[in-house]
Amino acid sequence: MALIAILAGDGIGPEVTAEARRVLDALDLGFDFEEGLVGGAAYHATGHPLPPETLALAKRADAILFGAVGDPSCDSLERSLRPEQAILGLRKELSLFANLRPAKLFPGLEDASALRPEVASAIDLLILRELNGDVYFGEKGMRTTASGLREGYDIMSYNEAEVRRIAIAGFEAARRRRGKLCSVDKANVLETSQLWRDVVIETAAQYPDIALTHMYVDNAAMQLVRNPGQFDVIVTGNLFGDILSDQASMCVGSIGMLASASLSDWRSTLGLYEPIHGSAPDIAGQGKANPCAMILSVAMMLRHSLDMPAPADRIEAAVSAAIGKGVRTADLGGTHSTREMGDAVLAALA
Ligand code: NAI
Ligand code: MG
Repeated sequence: MALIAILAGDGIGPEVTAEARRVLDALDLGFDFEEGLVGGAAYHATGHPLPPETLALAKRADAILFGAVGDPSCDSLERSLRPEQAILGLRKELSLFANLRPAKLFPGLEDASALRPEVASAIDLLILRELNGDVYFGEKGMRTTASGLREGYDIMSYNEAEVRRIAIAGFEAARRRRGKLCSVDKANVLETSQLWRDVVIETAAQYPDIALTHMYVDNAAMQLVRNPGQFDVIVTGNLFGDILSDQASMCVGSIGMLASASLSDWRSTLGLYEPIHGSAPDIAGQGKANPCAMILSVAMMLRHSLDMPAPADRIEAAVSAAIGKGVRTADLGGTHSTREMGDAVLAALA
């Protein structure tokens, strides 16, 4: 029986995870579930944001469902104890380097999108974000300059093996979609990006069927709102992918709609599934969070890790039906609660 690790985390994490769990229970697919402490919740209970038991559970599981971490009461802790270290630690420990973030407009959400309806409805893209390198994992610190100024630094680096494996994942993803790959970098200024571009071009030799283009990240941010329909798969580094995917979410209505899968190989079945949003402390505990991103993460999990495309399709159709009926949490301009949105998805599943 497949084991699903449930790591709900902080803030709205447990609220949206509860709705995802109801969907899984309704589908009755015969999984074992085990819950683990993570983030600020884990820090407060054990003194560490990613306790060894949670890491062991994640390694033992067939798939991991992850809510969100981030807790303002932990802001003054040293960096290694902050809740966010839990998700960075899981990505690194499990080598989850390929983060798939699909963005598509659900019919009916044209009014919630930040874009004009005809621009928004053309969106059907996948952002493939590298997750194990870049400034997030480079050497970082604070020092004092010769003139006595405080100076913070974070080293941005990628080696060619790291770029090659995400480039391969990008070409493979494009092959399974519309055959277009846009590599986003800042090769006009950054050495890291020059290497990125060189390695992507080298890798392209094995994928003559894929139409490869390159774009600087600042232009990509602009094109994403000007003409997002031009993109199929976007492959990019950790920092650029983080920023561009939050931006893409608003093009399809809300950050509460975007799910993600984090995989260790494009062929691997172990994966971590999470909404792209964080713990949203500003709305936590108020029943306002949109659970759709988390519920759609379950669909990605069933498809990628558990080889169950049929229930994955059912979940996506149910979310679409609930949206189509006009059920909207506040982020989508409505007044429905987290639970009511979950109820509507469950009703559409039945
Ligand atoms: P955030 O994504 O938590 O929230 C940004 C804004 O979007 C807020 O106004 C929030 O209310 C809204 N929002 C997010 N998800 C929503 C949902 N499902 N429904 C309705 N509205 C939603 O990002 P923020 O505020 O920058 O970070 C809050 C905390 O989360 C921080 O501690 C941050 O480090 C952490 N974080 C954790 C992530 C993770 O666990 N993977 C990812 C991003 C941030
Ligand atoms: Mg982010």
